Amino acid sequence: MTGQFDGLGDRYEEFSRTPFRQFLEVPSVMKAVGDVKGTAVFDYGCGAGDYTRWFAERRASRVVGFDVSQQMVEYAQERERRQPLGIEYCAGTIPDRFQGRFDLVVSVYVIPYAVTQGDLSGQFDAAAWLLRPGGRYVALPVHPEFPHADPDFYDRYGLRMYAPKLPGDGDPVTLELVFGQRRDVLTARYWSRATLTDALHQAGFQDLRWHDHHVTDEGLRAYGTTSWDRYIERPHAAIFSCAKEERL
Ligand SMILES: C[S@@+](CC[C@H](N)C(=O)[O-])C[C@H]1O[C@@H](n2cnc3c(N)ncnc32)[C@H](O)[C@@H]1O
Repeated sequence: MTGQFDGLGDRYEEFSRTPFRQFLEVPSVMKAVGDVKGTAVFDYGCGAGDYTRWFAERRASRVVGFDVSQQMVEYAQERERRQPLGIEYCAGTIPDRFQGRFDLVVSVYVIPYAVTQGDLSGQFDAAAWLLRPGGRYVALPVHPEFPHADPDFYDRYGLRMYAPKLPGDGDPVTLELVFGQRRDVLTARYWSRATLTDALHQAGFQDLRWHDHHVTDEGLRAYGTTSWDRYIERPHAAIFSCAKEERL
């Protein structure tokens, strides 16, 4: 399941330099996340550590990056060694000492790698376990209404994503990374809005909000409005935020 990411650290770092990520995805996620200054942030499924580093640069008081892939964490740790930002990293399992320690758990493109309903609930339970009561969870699943039958739809953003039929819960979706000189093929999983909503409530989350993507002025100036329109209208990923119930 997660072995598919081993060795892709450089690809995700490269992805972060694409116009799609720079001008659209990251600003949209950061808007949903809000101001992190002075907060404790847990980057769940941190990969190469791009978001982890951006949280540290935005002066979060504590930043922890976690990934199930040891190789991804080693890649992120190497970046931390070269340019220290005070980030802690852990791989494989989450240490007990992190229970209830975080104001914010962010998880970018990790829900798509939950293969079973149990994996999905496991991710939500882990986020709830990490958060203090009232803490927020921001995450990106495959968009429940992505145009599954058009493999070329996201080409211009460096991605291809498609499924042979209208996917149901847990069904595979092919995701190709097609920016730069290489092409990598991954298998993601689809989860419906109803199933995501239900599993979040089961894990003790409330105040669920779905956030729109937007493009920065710089992105609009550099590439024009029309080049972004199709993504904004039919994003490949959804952004949601929710809060851990105060009483938990
Ligand atoms: C598509 S990458 C995204 C990495 C990073 N969040 C980013 O946006 O640059 C997904 C990452 O999630 C990790 N992952 C998948 N399932 C996981 C799980 N259950 N717990 C923690 N990490 C997981 C993978 O190893 C991979 O590094």
